[in-house]
Amino acid sequence: MIVVTRRIPDPALELLQAAGDVWISPHDRPLTTEELQAAVRGADAVISLLHDKVDAALLDAAGRQLKCIANVAVGYDNIDVAAATERGVVVTNTPGVLTDSTADLAMALILMVTRRLGEGERRIRSGEPWSWHMFFMLGTSLAGKTLGVIGLGAIGQATARRARAFGMEIVYAAPRRASQETEAELGGARRVPLMALLATADVVTLHTPLTPDTRHLIDSAALRQMRSDAYLVNTSRGPIIDEAALVKALRNDKIAGAALDVFENEPDVHPDLRELDNVVLIPHLGSATIETRTAMAVLAANNALAVLAGKRPPTAVNPEVLATG
Ligand code: GLV
Repeated sequence: MIVVTRRIPDPALELLQAAGDVWISPHDRPLTTEELQAAVRGADAVISLLHDKVDAALLDAAGRQLKCIANVAVGYDNIDVAAATERGVVVTNTPGVLTDSTADLAMALILMVTRRLGEGERRIRSGEPWSWHMFFMLGTSLAGKTLGVIGLGAIGQATARRARAFGMEIVYAAPRRASQETEAELGGARRVPLMALLATADVVTLHTPLTPDTRHLIDSAALRQMRSDAYLVNTSRGPIIDEAALVKALRNDKIAGAALDVFENEPDVHPDLRELDNVVLIPHLGSATIETRTAMAVLAANNALAVLAGKRPPTAVNPEVLATG
């Protein structure tokens, strides 16, 4: 049996249903831990979403027949991959298909926060009178400014490519240097240490996975490094930013603004963030287009079906399970 923890697009469901028995959660909400544990009992494969915590207890609740956890997301910090590997369970994610949508959203957030678009929209909706004048709601231009990309994987690169079209220079911080071709394509992008990136960039954009090493990567010390006229954009995972420290930095004008698609305790949002005008708040929409969500679900379904058929799935996170198999 294949368990789907929350409704996914029909083309993916049809693929799964053509292959065997499928149980789909009837709820339009994340399942509770108890519901998840009950739902996965006896499953051969689970199609999980990023709000499902897949830990050792859940894997054990599923039972030894479980072969695959197919996460419908590129990020898989919700899954204890080591625990899955130990149990011979293949974990898969959905890289590639969401790169452009997520980079589009990152670019949209860069524009929103530097041009104060959320604030402007709120102003119109408030009904408060306004009139055009030379100094009304001035933002910051992007041309000639520096974008600091933290994590130059597929989404970081795609965001940098978009920023180049707006005339920005690129610096990046990453565990490894990108290829010469990539650096050249990004207008001579330079790899710099994280602290140097924070100190120089006009806009800092986060594209790193959430791991124990990146949790609170942007803490009060990192925020102190940033320029007071700089902006911070996060389309990766909320806990990479220490949200309480960010609130303080925004409130005290230590940075100019922030734009967040993801939150430390999602779906909760730090109440003080909602009070601040210099922050854009979006409900985790990075991959939220019809095309992309369909492609993600179809890739997850193909991953699960490949594992169940004893084949190599397109995008495994722990392919060593297949090798030892
Ligand atoms: C979304 O956040 C994803 O990781 O795909």
